[in-house]
Amino acid sequence: MVGVGIVGIGSYVPPKIMTNEDLENIVDTSNKWIVEKTGIIERRISEPDVCTSDLAVFAAIKAMKMAKIKPEDIDMIILATSSPDVPLSSTAGITQNKLGCINASAFDINAVCAGWIHALEIGTKFTADNNYENILVIGAETYSRIVNWKDRSTCVLFGDGAGAAVLQKVEDGKGILGTWIKSDGSGANVIQIPAGGVRKSLSSDRFVEGEQYFQMNGRAVWDFAIDAMPEAVINVLKRVNRDLSEVDMIIPHQANLNIIKEGMKKLNLPMKKTFINLQKYGNTAGASVPIALSEAVSEGKIKSGDLVVTVAFGGGLAWGANAMIW
Ligand code: ACO
Repeated sequence: MVGVGIVGIGSYVPPKIMTNEDLENIVDTSNKWIVEKTGIIERRISEPDVCTSDLAVFAAIKAMKMAKIKPEDIDMIILATSSPDVPLSSTAGITQNKLGCINASAFDINAVCAGWIHALEIGTKFTADNNYENILVIGAETYSRIVNWKDRSTCVLFGDGAGAAVLQKVEDGKGILGTWIKSDGSGANVIQIPAGGVRKSLSSDRFVEGEQYFQMNGRAVWDFAIDAMPEAVINVLKRVNRDLSEVDMIIPHQANLNIIKEGMKKLNLPMKKTFINLQKYGNTAGASVPIALSEAVSEGKIKSGDLVVTVAFGGGLAWGANAMIW
């Protein structure tokens, strides 16, 4: 028996910083409100000529470097995003071309903020197959282009970035132990972009200004998220026959510090068993978990042999968690 594990991980955020004070000049908000309600202090914003695939490329190069492999060694690219470069073709394919992964298949998946959690499970299953050696699992988002900069209830929450992992077969008992994922499509309109798909195209005469942007019922998401985070952690541990007391580190979706505190409280785990970087980047949606995992590893917060749980929740509604031995 062999396992599948992450042998390389990397992240990238654009250099341009937008602080809460900068936002005070754009919408009717305050640093105090944003910090108290979310814990976010600043976020990164892509330059106009930078797309989601560019962020993905930078993160993937770092992950491949750590894994000591070349672009042509990659057999598959799975890219989780809800802010693609274009509705069609896939951002994974555009990324493949920019990276020069000439031997790879490439496709996107969209489970919004829980996208990378789902992508890791798909990548794990493919890597276990003998036809695949190296799989890139990327989460990349450019929410600065899909939020409505006139809507203070959402634009203050998000930022841009990407995280990437290289999966390979590893010694049995190491690597990814299992995944638990779930959806509730009855909540599809709790977080949405109403227009731009086929239901209401941007050229439709039924299209109303503002509907091309991200919209969210924040209170409904809060109520969902504070239960979804502990539920996913508990269920993935049950699936892999591990106990909460054995967990060394929880890497949560960096949506909101207060949600993470509430989730950790429900799990009865101390905050020192989690990793937080949302104060620097805001919510980077499907990129937030791989960015946080990458930074936790590079800062030495995760050591070889640690039991790590990655967990996310968001649009779909979709949520889930992966358990792994680092
Ligand atoms: N600055 C100042 N005031 C604001 C702002 C702002 N940026 N945004 C809203 N307000 C005001 C509202 O208008 C409201 O004013 P009122 O009382 O006069 O009507 C007041 O603040 C309270 O608004 P609420 O929406 O009730 O605030 P709440 O306590 O629910 O906090 C928040 C809002 C932070 C968004 C919270 O609901 C939350 O975190 N929800 C979860 C969101 C989330 O995690 N999404 C992630 C999943 S989606 C994804 O990741 C893609």
